[in-house]
Amino acid sequence: MAAETKTWRATVLTLFPEMFPGPLGVSLAGKALSSGLWALEARDIRDSATDRHRSVDDTPAGGGPGMVLRADVLARAIDAAELSADRPRDRPRLLMSPRGRPLTQSRVVELAAGPGPLVVCGRFEGIDQRVIEARQLEEVSIGDYVLSGGEIAAMALIDACVRLLPGVMGKPDSGADESFSHGLLEYPQYTRPQEFEGQPIPDILLSGDHARVAAWRQAEAEALTRARRPDLWAARTKDQKRPKRPTDG
Ligand code: ADE
Repeated sequence: MAAETKTWRATVLTLFPEMFPGPLGVSLAGKALSSGLWALEARDIRDSATDRHRSVDDTPAGGGPGMVLRADVLARAIDAAELSADRPRDRPRLLMSPRGRPLTQSRVVELAAGPGPLVVCGRFEGIDQRVIEARQLEEVSIGDYVLSGGEIAAMALIDACVRLLPGVMGKPDSGADESFSHGLLEYPQYTRPQEFEGQPIPDILLSGDHARVAAWRQAEAEALTRARRPDLWAARTKDQKRPKRPTDG
């Protein structure tokens, strides 16, 4: 039998499935979704509640404010999503959470190259730790700020993956030059009009000299990265100083 290429699929477990596809249903991601380049499934965690009130949360053990998502309900929701017949096996299981590892472009590239993740969206004060461990959820943060739930974070993660899927972006290399792909922020861009509120486009960009344009862009990207993201700049200069090992390309 010929190797089957399965469609990249994001399965989202949420208490608010009506939030999806939301912004993922328009523009680049939305067009790709309609044309079947990827698939999105939003499943309601509440469907896995078993009591007559369909309750999904309870008060935190040890006291404190807020409510905690129950381990048994979420475990059932995860297991049901994974057992459905057409789901890819061995997909990454993510939990969107401000205490997760920060999402990076390199993790996005890995996720886009795989079958597509199962993404759990947290709500309330948190999720019972036992289900995080028992289902080996990888906690992922999209930044050092607190959203009211994981849904918007899940959308950001899915959007970042979808734009890398084959056939989604118009020009295959339009992602190659952008911020983070080389550890630098993106250089500034200009277009018509040639003069805007007294500001001309930098001469060099109109010179037609591709080598000088490339050198100018590289210098601008480096200056921006140094000024705005000393962390990225330090990581980059550290990489460049690292002695070459025989295994390096
Ligand atoms: N849920 C709430 N805040 C979040 C964040 N910063 N990243 C991921 N998920 C979240």
